[in-house]
Amino acid sequence: MNSLNFTISPLWSITFVVLSILLLVHPSYGSSLTSSFYEKTCPNALKTIQQAIQKAVSNESRMAASLIRLHFHDCFVQGCDASILLDAQATSTSERNAFQNIGSLRGYEVVDSVKVEVEKLCPGIVSCADILAVTARDASVIAGGPSWTVMLGRRDSTTANRTLAESDLPLSTSTLDEQISIFSNKGLNTREMVALTGSHTLGQAQCSHYRERIYNGTQIDATFAQNLQKNCTRSGQNDSSNLAPFDLVTPNSFDNNYFKNLLVKKGLLPSDQILFSGGATDNIVVEYSKDASKFNTDFADAMVKMGNISPLTGSEGVIRKICSKNN
Ligand code: HEM
Ligand SMILES: *[C@@H]1O[C@H](CO)[C@@H](O)[C@H](O)[C@H]1NC(C)=O
Ligand SMILES: *[C@@H]1O[C@H](CO)[C@@H](O)[C@H](O)[C@H]1NC(C)=O
Ligand SMILES: *[C@@H]1O[C@H](CO)[C@@H](O)[C@H](O)[C@H]1NC(C)=O
Ligand SMILES: *[C@@H]1O[C@H](CO)[C@@H](O)[C@H](O)[C@H]1NC(C)=O
Repeated sequence: MNSLNFTISPLWSITFVVLSILLLVHPSYGSSLTSSFYEKTCPNALKTIQQAIQKAVSNESRMAASLIRLHFHDCFVQGCDASILLDAQATSTSERNAFQNIGSLRGYEVVDSVKVEVEKLCPGIVSCADILAVTARDASVIAGGPSWTVMLGRRDSTTANRTLAESDLPLSTSTLDEQISIFSNKGLNTREMVALTGSHTLGQAQCSHYRERIYNGTQIDATFAQNLQKNCTRSGQNDSSNLAPFDLVTPNSFDNNYFKNLLVKKGLLPSDQILFSGGATDNIVVEYSKDASKFNTDFADAMVKMGNISPLTGSEGVIRKICSKNN
């Protein structure tokens, strides 16, 4: 009797409603990122970031690709918390030294210099994790890709985890099942994985990542392989870092040629071609190769979702003053 009275008491109902509202509005509960996060505290932040990225990409077109990849490698390790940016002085377990990043991930200096500009504007307000998210969107737009509304309010980690980077980032040699599970561990489904990997419409990869494929691969166009072999010899000691564009047709523009290339066995990495080699993702590749605008909208939606992976919010984490260092 007592417990029945307890559950239906109006006072308890009101308390419950009030508590629920508090939980919903408090910044550290649930997904509390909002697009207007800096509207009052740093109204010119987004414009400042955009202008700096425009300059960096005009100086070097590949930088658009590098910055999109940086956001991806941030979000997959401890969530989108700018842990990727901490250098070896800031933390002995710098993610930069992980196998998937060392000698390969780039754009750190660009992000550091964008942060300097933003700090001049509004010191201690804008997180490095948010700068990475805005930067990825701006880079996509500058390269001719889709735009999207960036959700904001992430805070920065004080730690990095190299071991976690090595286990949670995919490898060019991952099987399709491994790729699918790496993405699903981050809440991204197979379709979202294929859309996001369409970023390989931009940028370049090193010979060390495609050597095995161009000599021993089976699902590869013969002429495409021969051309790549010129700059990436079978046993070359000095050419392992030689670069080749992912998309030979339009290397610096964001489009769906990546998927068209896969249909004719001109994927650069093993992990690219595996998306079209008789497995579960073949039909998605075909769809995106035919429908550029569907690819664009799916890519934009998946980037927003990727940007939502385990952010630090509210009073969690910090706002770093220099992106590569702890405060
Ligand atoms: C199974 C999934 C993936 C694998 C195995 C993979 C692997 C790689 C590898 C090995 C490189 C070349 C690195 C080098 O040779 O230095 C690369 C480059 C790149 N990746 Fe991925 N990647 C994957 C998914 C993604 C996703 C989801 C994104 C973005 C959302 C992305 C964006 C990029 C970009 C833009 C580049 C070119 C970077 C540059 O030119 O600086 N990749 N990726
Ligand atoms: C411009 O790009 C080159 C590489 O192509 C780089 O070495 C240089 O630091 C960049 N300059 C600026 C101002 O970003
Ligand atoms: C880093 O990640 C690994 C693997 O998940 C975990 O076992 C370890 O405790 C983490 N280290 C730190 C310092 O958080
Ligand atoms: C290709 O396969 C052969 C035979 O298994 C092997 O000796 C060689 O190291 C592989 N890789 C390259 C790049 O040729
Ligand atoms: C060969 O590799 C170099 C060094 O990365 C690169 O600058 C050049 O564009 C490559 N040449 C071809 C034909 O891909």
